[in-house]
Amino acid sequence: MHTDTEDGLKERCTALVAELGLGRSGDVKSVQPLPGGVASDIALVELPDRKICVKFALQQLKVADAWHAPIHRNLTEYKWLQAAAAIDPKASLKLLGHSSADNGFAMEYVAGDNVYLWKDATMARQADTGEAAVVGRVLAQIHAASVRPGFDRTPFENRDDFEALRLAPYFRTTADRHPDLSDRLNGLCDAFHEAPTVLVHGDVSPKNILFRDGYPILLDAECATLGDGAFDVAFCMSLLALGAVHHREIRNRQIEAILEMWDAYAALIDWDGARATEARVCAFLAALMLARIDGKSPVEYLTDQKQNAVRAIMLPLVAEPPARLGDFCDVLRGRIADL
Ligand SMILES: Nc1ncnc2c1ncn2[C@@H]1O[C@H](COP(=O)(O)OP(=O)(O)O)[C@@H](O)[C@H]1O
Ligand SMILES: [Mg+2]
Repeated sequence: MHTDTEDGLKERCTALVAELGLGRSGDVKSVQPLPGGVASDIALVELPDRKICVKFALQQLKVADAWHAPIHRNLTEYKWLQAAAAIDPKASLKLLGHSSADNGFAMEYVAGDNVYLWKDATMARQADTGEAAVVGRVLAQIHAASVRPGFDRTPFENRDDFEALRLAPYFRTTADRHPDLSDRLNGLCDAFHEAPTVLVHGDVSPKNILFRDGYPILLDAECATLGDGAFDVAFCMSLLALGAVHHREIRNRQIEAILEMWDAYAALIDWDGARATEARVCAFLAALMLARIDGKSPVEYLTDQKQNAVRAIMLPLVAEPPARLGDFCDVLRGRIADL
């Protein structure tokens, strides 16, 4: 039996397939919703000759707190995927068209024995093949390419969107809950725009990275904008670090992975000083970890005890972030050892 939502999704996918010229309505053999995040409807669509993936932006995000986000972010995502494909074809998937009328797009469905989601591999504790370093390298390549002459920045001139999707729900909401840190957290929002600006993805998470043949494909670029690349690095590191708090068995590996990601990223920074960038990564990392407890998009997996621990560890680090990630990780490792 199908629910109304599933029927609605099938209709929308069928209309998009027809609009983009990928097939006729009767060609859609099945539509299967994919377990996505809070911001979109995403489905595997089976056509007679191939499987594709179709994604639509939602107006109202599926989170407890009210959070509206502009649906034209679906086009921003498509533009980011196009830009990434031009910069590093290996790190991208085939794009099959975007519809502004439907706020949706179609892309290749990436699957097979040579494909896995980074988060799933971490949870299954499969051999770590250095994913963090290769993600750091690919991210740095994209950031670096976006400051070179000839790169078209215009699709990403969307400060207000990033404010609504990231800066307000993460940093400003957390600032409201921690008035002592309000200057720091609001200051980070300014710093995001003041640093040398690159093409920021905005949601670099192990849940959003497929590995194919050992190479990362970054998905889910709805938040893409121009800003401080340190945000992307810190965003991914914050999730690795929260994973370290959550799972004792992978704790040491996750913390090592943070440092490996940094080394790989730092080696390619040519648009700014590496030490200055590292200091900003530390500041964003502390703030993002606190925001994942007290902001609008909290992680759902930490026990109350672990949430309290993260808050207690991060409050002083947000107030006075270390300049080096090695020092950050030493503090983290020491303070979570008994959890
Ligand atoms: N092109 C694709 N091929 C295969 N799987 C995909 C593809 N795009 C997304 N997915 C899967 O669907 C999940 C949700 O997609 P994502 O773009 O992250 O949407 P959301 O915004 O809902 O998080 C991803 O974690 C990934 O597992
Ligand atoms: Mg996602």
